[in-house]
Amino acid sequence: MTDKKSNIPLSKPHFPAALRKAIAADIEDILASGRLMSGPWAKKFEEQFAALTGRAHAVSVHSCTTALQIALSFADVKGKDVLVPAGSFITDISVVEFAGGRPVLVDMNPETLALDIEDLRRKITPETAAVIWVHLTGIIAQDFQAILDFTQKHGLFLIEDAAHAHGAEIDGRRAGSFGDASTFSFYPTKVLTSGTGGMLTTDNPDLARYAREIRMFGKDEETGEIVHYGNDWFLDEIRACVASHQTSDLEGQVVRRREIAAAYHMAFANQPGFRMLDVAAGNLPAWYQYAVFLNPAVDRKALIQMLKSKHGVDTKGIYKPTHHEQIFRKFDDGRLTATEDVLHRSLCLPMHAGLRDDEVKKIADALVTEVRAQLG
Ligand SMILES: Cc1ncc(COP(=O)(O)O)c(C=O)c1O
Repeated sequence: MTDKKSNIPLSKPHFPAALRKAIAADIEDILASGRLMSGPWAKKFEEQFAALTGRAHAVSVHSCTTALQIALSFADVKGKDVLVPAGSFITDISVVEFAGGRPVLVDMNPETLALDIEDLRRKITPETAAVIWVHLTGIIAQDFQAILDFTQKHGLFLIEDAAHAHGAEIDGRRAGSFGDASTFSFYPTKVLTSGTGGMLTTDNPDLARYAREIRMFGKDEETGEIVHYGNDWFLDEIRACVASHQTSDLEGQVVRRREIAAAYHMAFANQPGFRMLDVAAGNLPAWYQYAVFLNPAVDRKALIQMLKSKHGVDTKGIYKPTHHEQIFRKFDDGRLTATEDVLHRSLCLPMHAGLRDDEVKKIADALVTEVRAQLG
């Protein structure tokens, strides 16, 4: 049995020594300056994200959940339907409830892990106001144009949840550039992290201003009067500094994640028992997670257990389907079957920029060995 401490974790924040040293020096300066909010680091971080996504505005906030809440409140979805993927993190449905909207769960396209365009078409009603589109695992859907055309044709507010997709791009377009509002997370497991944190990107100056006012207790930027019900959702200087350094390091991190994904992909070519996603040339994921999809003959629970106990490799499913959480069961229309099938068969392998080549090989060998052992 492998010692628990030597497990290869699924994710690990990327803070190499030189980066830690640079961050520590800058935090020392921040503390000495006494300016802990609305200072140069938040400004720099926002400029980096506007440049990264090619958007006119980037507004740093407390978390991605916060950014989603602000976007839905701006879109005024109260009493209206919001189309939400059934296969995503539960925050995407919770925020609709917070905003007083009615979540309508949409099934998944198993080839893209994103919204199934046919199910979107089935579920739109005159009451639909917005759509939340998630780049699950960090891959932008190959049929993204169909999603954009659908929302445009029906005049829907498009929220692009890019919490998994820092640096992802398709046909030269970056994640965070597609939505009326686009959102990012800097939660500890994410491609970039500041402990916690979020960003909203947009080309809409009214939304950008609304976000800046909401994150500061609802205070009008010019008059200082309270004009909205707001909150203290700004990103402080310390977290903005950490996030800014992480962003400067992003390109290298994403290149490494792509190398690891390519190594997994090569190791798994023609292996029985599971499939991988077919990612087209020109589609460059951020690879927040690297998932394979097990055949029905493979017992996922037993596999996860064996990979951990025998090989010291941590693995897990992507997420539980949203409608399988007790609190969200009422949103199950009984037809979210592709989401259930894909998520129940998904298995995420360790993925982070600090993984060494020998670890990648060890993980790949372990998976192939244990799947083969199960297939007999
Ligand atoms: C797809 C997705 N959206 C939003 C979030 C929420 O991010 P945050 O923790 O920054 O609010 C997460 C967090 O895991 C996520 O996976």
